[in-house]
Amino acid sequence: MTDSTPRPGSVALITGGTGGFGRALATRLREREVTAVLADLDSERNRQAAADLGCPFLALDVTDRAANEAVVARVEADHGRLDAAYLNAGISAAKSDDALDLEEFMRVVDVDLFGVVYGAVAARPALQRAGGGAIVVTASLAGLSPMATDPGYSVAKGGAIAFVRSMAPRLEREGIRITAICPGFADTAIIDRIREEFTAAGFPVLSADEVAQAMVMAWEQGEPGAAYVVQPGVGTVPYRFKGVPSARTAAGETAVVPEALRPPSMR
Ligand SMILES: NC(=O)c1ccc[n+]([C@@H]2O[C@H](COP(=O)([O-])OP(=O)(O)OC[C@H]3O[C@@H](n4cnc5c(N)ncnc54)[C@H](O)[C@@H]3O)[C@@H](O)[C@H]2O)c1
Repeated sequence: MTDSTPRPGSVALITGGTGGFGRALATRLREREVTAVLADLDSERNRQAAADLGCPFLALDVTDRAANEAVVARVEADHGRLDAAYLNAGISAAKSDDALDLEEFMRVVDVDLFGVVYGAVAARPALQRAGGGAIVVTASLAGLSPMATDPGYSVAKGGAIAFVRSMAPRLEREGIRITAICPGFADTAIIDRIREEFTAAGFPVLSADEVAQAMVMAWEQGEPGAAYVVQPGVGTVPYRFKGVPSARTAAGETAVVPEALRPPSMR
């Protein structure tokens, strides 16, 4: 297990870094004297948001695989190392009617799922070079329970959680701890379209800082492969997956998958 923690001199990359969770996380990390590099879509607004926090900014579209590699290389070149990759960039569908707009569905999956996969693949060798570290994926409660208003978002976030769980053993062997954060609704720009409904209904939403605290905890002491639910009034709790029934042999015993079919990290 890696002993990587957010300590003075550590370097973290945050994708979607100038959004609500990204800014709250950067603020928390800076309090610990961690260099937080904010990677986000290139715009004057995003560059300014990073400058306001005193954080370096790198332009990144997470759906561009090569750009993910280039950003990690830039972080290492500028700051000497990478200790934590927060794969946090995300979008949701712009509308929630009953039609399924496939183009929008694919766009959401591209950003929220493949953006995470590309980010993890890009960060892995740099984290190895740092002697271990953390990958923290911002998934969502929508990845654990179906979101009828946005199936693409549920698919992407559920896929991201499955990715985290299935990558954990091989990364743990390299001293890299990968975890997922699954917040309920939180007060950031992503809920702008629906915020009034929550207010009118008296439905509690998380603050960005509550989520940022969970993200720091995940780097500090997250269990490899864990998915942490963050909910108003509940706090941060690991989600307990029930598991699936194992195959039974003819003798009625639990069947074990042949060793040759398991990855080296699980033999
Ligand atoms: N706010 C919530 O209710 C909530 C709940 C659960 C999960 N999440 C997830 O949290 C993460 C952060 O969202 P937020 O709440 O801070 O919202 P936000 O809209 O404030 O931030 C999202 C950030 O991602 C960036 N982004 C979007 N597409 C990108 C791309 N292709 N490449 C790089 N960056 C891109 C945006 O520019 C923005 O800065 C997202 O993955 C979101 O799905 C949010």
